[in-house]
Amino acid sequence: MAKQTFGSKAGLIAATVGSAVGLGNIWRFPAEVQANGGGAFLLVYILCVFLLGVPVMMGEFALGRGGRGDTISVYRRLAPGKPWWLTGVLGLLASYTILSFYLVVAGWTLEYLVSSVTGDLYATIPGDAPGSSAQFAHRMAEYVATPVKPVVFTILLIVINAVVLLGGVQKGIEKMSNLLMPVLFLLLILFCCVSLSLPEAGEGVTFFLKPDFSKITPGVCIDALGQAFFSLSLGMGTLVTYSSYFPKDTRLGRTAVTVSALDLLVALMMGIVIFPAVMSFGLANESFEGATLVFVTLPEVFMQMPGTQAWSILFFLLLLIAAVTSTISLAEVAVAFAADRYFKGNRRKSLLLVLLPLLIVSPLCSLSNGVLSHVTIFGQTLFNFLDTFSTNILLPLVGLTMCIYLGWFAPRGFLEEELTNRGAIRSLWPRVAMVLLRYVAPLLILLIFISRFA
Ligand code: PHE
Repeated sequence: MAKQTFGSKAGLIAATVGSAVGLGNIWRFPAEVQANGGGAFLLVYILCVFLLGVPVMMGEFALGRGGRGDTISVYRRLAPGKPWWLTGVLGLLASYTILSFYLVVAGWTLEYLVSSVTGDLYATIPGDAPGSSAQFAHRMAEYVATPVKPVVFTILLIVINAVVLLGGVQKGIEKMSNLLMPVLFLLLILFCCVSLSLPEAGEGVTFFLKPDFSKITPGVCIDALGQAFFSLSLGMGTLVTYSSYFPKDTRLGRTAVTVSALDLLVALMMGIVIFPAVMSFGLANESFEGATLVFVTLPEVFMQMPGTQAWSILFFLLLLIAAVTSTISLAEVAVAFAADRYFKGNRRKSLLLVLLPLLIVSPLCSLSNGVLSHVTIFGQTLFNFLDTFSTNILLPLVGLTMCIYLGWFAPRGFLEEELTNRGAIRSLWPRVAMVLLRYVAPLLILLIFISRFA
């Protein structure tokens, strides 16, 4: 079967941005900003995006398009007989692991969307003051721990993934992204405008944008690095897989800068949405830790606004779009691999192989927040274990080995050829990216890695 490609430049950017923009931008980023002293974190984060994110993304793009294949076969093709393909195996493992619990969280967002529509989300709970954080905290704790509903929503998300992925690269992934990404940006712009018109907007924006340099500590830098990695979808084979669908004339350097900048823009816009809102409604001292920002604090904000339900629906729609486009890219890593390797390009069979196990693992993950919470792996519930194992161990490991491969072991001139489209364009990127991939990125990633165990 001929190798599939994206049909247009805009489609390819929409799909890749769709992968990068996810729950990481919408709730993890503001939570990190809050926990790490506001503007100081933002400043370090921006540096991380450009110093680490952009070159690693270029590297993944070069690997994917140059190696023309899934995350494992690119290494087999470029380094036959060498063990580098194991990096691809780890990438595949990372994406599949993340997918298994990300689907559960995406399921929560769908449930919150549905219950915003029905109004259940805002129904009072006996014993809790109406609209209080206790009300929403109880609701969330109860919902996450009940056995049936979250499993049903998780399965619904698996079905949505199946439908889109069955359509293939152009008619599935690209079409969905072309449709959903503009909606996501429009919703974000709307929320920014509303938030900026609130009474304490200035204070919120100042907290978010004005760096207090005394707050920049090694811990803040490490957190910013980890966040950049997660947010840009690095180290999971997703970008390698998507870029294997890039046409030959795609400018990889420019695309990496565009995708990273748009991902950063979404994070910035979320900061502009969240901080003025929590300041204006007196919620700035609530902790955003875990999922509380979106499932507890924001419903409290909406409760205080006229048109509660409408805002709530629009917000959870935004969150769902961000989550779905990310799960699709995570699943595509395994779908592409299995289709190429085992089914002669037949995506239908490959989808079955990839999604069927998820019908068991993801519900188990969901149940580990409630009825199965006593079953632990290394002292953690299944959900938390998969989260920490993939984010703290697999991601940095894959990122590190990939940089070492590209920087030191890839065929001579490989990166340059890919970044200049075989000499067709002149670009400074190959040299800059090479230095960053050889020395800077491995060092930084090593730092993240060590810090997780220190
Ligand atoms: N980047 C996504 C986010 O910010 C998560 C993700 C990671 C998606 C890796 C795909 C691959 O939420």
